[in-house]
Amino acid sequence: MASAFHHATSTTLDKVIGNDEAGFTYGRYGNPTTGAFETAVAQMEGADDAVAFSSGMAAIYAAIALVVSSGDTILASRDIYGASFSVLRDHFHKLGVRPVFVDITDLDQVEAAIQAHRPTAILAETVSNPLLRVADIPRLVALAKPTATRVLIDNTFATPLLVNPITLGADMTIHSSTKYIAGHGDIMGGVIAAGSETAAALREQSRMLGAIASPMDAWLSLRGIKTLPLRYTRQCTSAAAIVSELERDPRISRVIYPDVTFNPGNQFRSALRGAIVSFEVAKAGQPEIYALMDALQMILPATTLGDVYSLMLYPAMASHRALTPEERAEVGIADNLVRLSVGIESPDDILDDLRQALDTAFP
Ligand SMILES: Cc1ncc(COP(=O)(O)O)c(C=O)c1O
Repeated sequence: MASAFHHATSTTLDKVIGNDEAGFTYGRYGNPTTGAFETAVAQMEGADDAVAFSSGMAAIYAAIALVVSSGDTILASRDIYGASFSVLRDHFHKLGVRPVFVDITDLDQVEAAIQAHRPTAILAETVSNPLLRVADIPRLVALAKPTATRVLIDNTFATPLLVNPITLGADMTIHSSTKYIAGHGDIMGGVIAAGSETAAALREQSRMLGAIASPMDAWLSLRGIKTLPLRYTRQCTSAAAIVSELERDPRISRVIYPDVTFNPGNQFRSALRGAIVSFEVAKAGQPEIYALMDALQMILPATTLGDVYSLMLYPAMASHRALTPEERAEVGIADNLVRLSVGIESPDDILDDLRQALDTAFP
């Protein structure tokens, strides 16, 4: 925990500031604990390096800002996290960057959009929030390479355990480390894994933007990583069990979960498909969903995911609130859709709570 680092002589300090000697000088330029966290993420993602940020959105902002300039076009998946959608639609658009939203799973549409708009970059999520649609990263990379389009992948839902976009040819792998990486719902953080040149440029930019990870948050994230495989494997297995039960419940009209047999480009490293389950409640609208969430006794209604506790979120109210009702309808986020982030509790307890809440809300 330090904002500046002491060196015994001015000559050494001069060399370290000038990057002629390794070391730390000022907190915004780097910190040993944050550096250790960055090394861990780079190793998990199979990347040369990683750069940590103060939140997932700071990381997404930095990734986009590094590769686009005014007059450029960026291609983005239509069903990305709401704030990623709105930072493109509102903020970058204001700076002269044109966002074009596509169905990232429709590769013909992606190819046509690349030819028509010559985008500087593509932004997609490995497994999208909240509709859990899987991007075929190797095919996206193959479509992007001929036009030198940079591929930016938000790997938050898949975690480094399931997919490593950098090893599949992506230029940057982004995480909201607030979620599974830190894993305990007690910090905000973001991190980008990349090749050494891109990481160096991100680090240089980060010195100016200043949205760095605090050493305490980096330390908590490192502590979280120690149990990431244990937590996430349990959460994914429980999620799959919950999916089969919900599919049998007549009150649930649609259960959304990535198909275990669907593995585009052989990108999934295991048979796990994540710990988020989204579902639509039959004949429900906002009042019924609120009643369901209010009736929960163990699962916590919360605007986050990836915690050890099970959490429920209503996308229309939270993650995708910034979208207009028309935009939500176009993306496929219905008014009866809820997102369940499965925690490490007993899957039976999670199911019991879901059932009793459904019984209460729909007697
Ligand atoms: C897929 C995804 N990416 C990025 C973010 C943004 O992360 P943060 O909230 O840490 O800024 C979120 C937040 O929910 C997310 O779900």
